[in-house]
Amino acid sequence: DNQAPANIKEQIETLLPKDAIVLLKKAGSLAETKNMKAYIIGGIVRDLILGSPSEDIDIVIEGDGISFAEAFANDINGTVTPHETFGTATVETENGSKLDFTTSRTEYYEKPAALPTVVRSNIKEDLFRRDFTMNAMAASLEPDSFGELIDYFNGLEDIKKKNLRVLHNLSFVEDPTRILRGIRFEARFSFRMDEETEAFLRHSAASIFALSHTRVITELKHIFQETNPAESLSRLHELGVLNKFLPGSIWSTKTSAVLSLLLKEWEQQETRPSIKEEWFFITACLYTENAETAKLLEAIAATKPQKKTARDFAVLMNDVTDDVFASEGALHEFAFHLDEDALFLVFLALLCSGEQSKARIVHAYRTKRKKLPRWVSGDDLKAAGLTPGPAFKDYLFQLEKAFLNGEITNRKEALAYIKSRM
Ligand code: CTP
Repeated sequence: DNQAPANIKEQIETLLPKDAIVLLKKAGSLAETKNMKAYIIGGIVRDLILGSPSEDIDIVIEGDGISFAEAFANDINGTVTPHETFGTATVETENGSKLDFTTSRTEYYEKPAALPTVVRSNIKEDLFRRDFTMNAMAASLEPDSFGELIDYFNGLEDIKKKNLRVLHNLSFVEDPTRILRGIRFEARFSFRMDEETEAFLRHSAASIFALSHTRVITELKHIFQETNPAESLSRLHELGVLNKFLPGSIWSTKTSAVLSLLLKEWEQQETRPSIKEEWFFITACLYTENAETAKLLEAIAATKPQKKTARDFAVLMNDVTDDVFASEGALHEFAFHLDEDALFLVFLALLCSGEQSKARIVHAYRTKRKKLPRWVSGDDLKAAGLTPGPAFKDYLFQLEKAFLNGEITNRKEALAYIKSRM
């Protein structure tokens, strides 16, 4: 048709900070004098169309991004940091704002789910390698066409329809992390995959296994940090890929109840773990279904402490008979060396299985275990006539159990308890 191309000049000028606009115009003019072309591209274009300013400014150069960035930095008295292996460069201005430059490029995937091989190309191919149509637009920075939208794949229309759409049928196969990105974008913008994209997604499920564990975790962290974890996990389940990313995980009435309890607990008690750990606890909820799934949690743990939590959790879920939960003292006998976070997960799992009285014991034990009193010392035992040796430790442990069971409540009772046992 003969419609004029869409233009986002107005959005650029109203949504971006003044100094950023000046920089973009300078980049466009410099490109013109060098016979190159400069565009803003990807997330920033999407965000401008959606009416929000973007933090990250990505500029693509048809030509040579690194040498362009060097010339640009020189022009504006900024500093440039080139990343030769990626063909990119970051320019920092005198007042600290940053612009990222890349050379327009296309990517080949030698095999699915691996990192791509990159070669230089034009803007159209650069856009075609991208994940979703809404992220596959650019806008010209050239003085004569400043703000003109480059939209080969109908991204603008998809944004208006709140449509999340891939550019071609192999997009998810080539890079299955895009499935997780897609879930995140759906939640962030209230978009929805179209039917065809969803079908491509379902057909790509088999390539997920080839993704590295680290890449999955990185994307999960992004999802949990910016969306409602329960909603996103339920969506992954609905799309049939949850247990492809997290083998053995289960999304059920119980695991979703465990997750909501966990999130509620974090809110109330401000005992939220560090951001680095949150993804692990959220994911762990998907392994609280039963003793069998509990054993699989260790495989998703990424750090040593997480592995210890996972192992202890499996022990508590598997090797435990009812009498272990009969009293806090009995639990101490079994669990004194077991991880605090593992106890927490078991507590949530028990509550959600309707095992209230066991859950109560675990909860009380967790709390009291943190501050076991030291009413009686080694010297007290000596004074009571005991010879130092391995038996000392045992007496002190008996005292801990008696305290947990409420049989002793102060030093006097503790000493009397020892006497009665001698
Ligand atoms: N991209 C892609 N496939 C990926 C990751 C990124 O095609 N697996 C492309 C998208 O075009 C995206 C751009 O690279 O717009 C930049 O990626 P990134 O900075 O991760 O995402 P943004 O779209 O900027 O999103 P966010 O707002 O979450 O940073």
